[in-house]
Amino acid sequence: MKKNVLTGLRPTGNLHLGHYFGACQNYLKLQNEYNFFLEIADVQALTDNFNNPEKVRKNVYEITMDLLSIGLDPNKVDFFLQSQIPEIAELTVFYSNLVTVARLERNPTVKTEIAQKKDIFGNNGESITYGFLGYPVSQAADITALRGEVVPVGDDQLPLLEQCREIVRKFNSIYGEILKEPQQVLSETTRVKGLDGNDKMGKSLGNAIYLVDDEETITKKIMAAITDPNKIKKDDPANPHICMVYYYHKLVNKEHCENVCKECKEGNRGCVACKKELIKAMLDFLQPIKEKRKYYEEHIDEVKKILRDGTKNAKKEATDNMKNIKQKMMIDYDL
Ligand code: TRP
Ligand code: SF4
Repeated sequence: MKKNVLTGLRPTGNLHLGHYFGACQNYLKLQNEYNFFLEIADVQALTDNFNNPEKVRKNVYEITMDLLSIGLDPNKVDFFLQSQIPEIAELTVFYSNLVTVARLERNPTVKTEIAQKKDIFGNNGESITYGFLGYPVSQAADITALRGEVVPVGDDQLPLLEQCREIVRKFNSIYGEILKEPQQVLSETTRVKGLDGNDKMGKSLGNAIYLVDDEETITKKIMAAITDPNKIKKDDPANPHICMVYYYHKLVNKEHCENVCKECKEGNRGCVACKKELIKAMLDFLQPIKEKRKYYEEHIDEVKKILRDGTKNAKKEATDNMKNIKQKMMIDYDL
């Protein structure tokens, strides 16, 4: 029997190249090898968007279309909505007994996020909600409710996986061996730098290229990207390794990037021409993705059906699994 892959995304915005190279590219391979459940984590998205339900709802469809447009095959992948699987919420409650508040407060991913979200959680995290602090518990429920054994994620998610494994071990030691410890799989590129040279591409950092960006937006963004600051004149030799334009050539213009590197070092390449070449390569790279997306935008009923069918399959898996879990916990009453 094939193992289950489980991964999730928060529907809070469109996919950018950081998602694509950091995690999604891996999904394309895994969909051929495993039983793949892809969760649109709308409940998790609400933990820091509780006051903006319209945004989450809209992005459920946006992100599903983005994922379909990169080539995920709905015949191989079950796309499902977290909110429609109550077993996940149930499991979250059960697991919450197995986790200390102190352990959650120490989770590096949670700590980073609290610091990034001062507007909602306060300068020192003093307004942190119970729900947000506990989302690693809910994420452990996502994974284990669907019997996920393989979890493709970006490296920012590793502390959450570690916490999930701890919960699994504790559960099994108390109630009996039933849950499987999930393993992460990382992409070759685990983190994509932003156009501004920041270590991470992110929506909140304003340094991202989105799969849905149009030609004008991409041109503007790439023309403003950070290059070697010591290169003043067109034929100054420069260091491509500190240039974001070269960095992106390596991602989307692989065949020519050696040449870009060489010419840049020799002073045989102007930055404007170099950026123009990257813009073209980027547009070529995004072209098939955009075409697929256009199809789904025009066939939104098909997108809904994909979510409906995937959710039905996920529900079946979770119901079956939950029966056994409740037995172990001795809450399988037959009244
Ligand atoms: N926390 C993940 C993110 O922010 C999304 C997510 C939700 C997830 N549930 C998951 C990832 C389960 C892996 C497994 O991107
Ligand atoms: Fe960067 Fe290209 Fe300019 Fe070199 S020539 S510094 S790689 S933009």
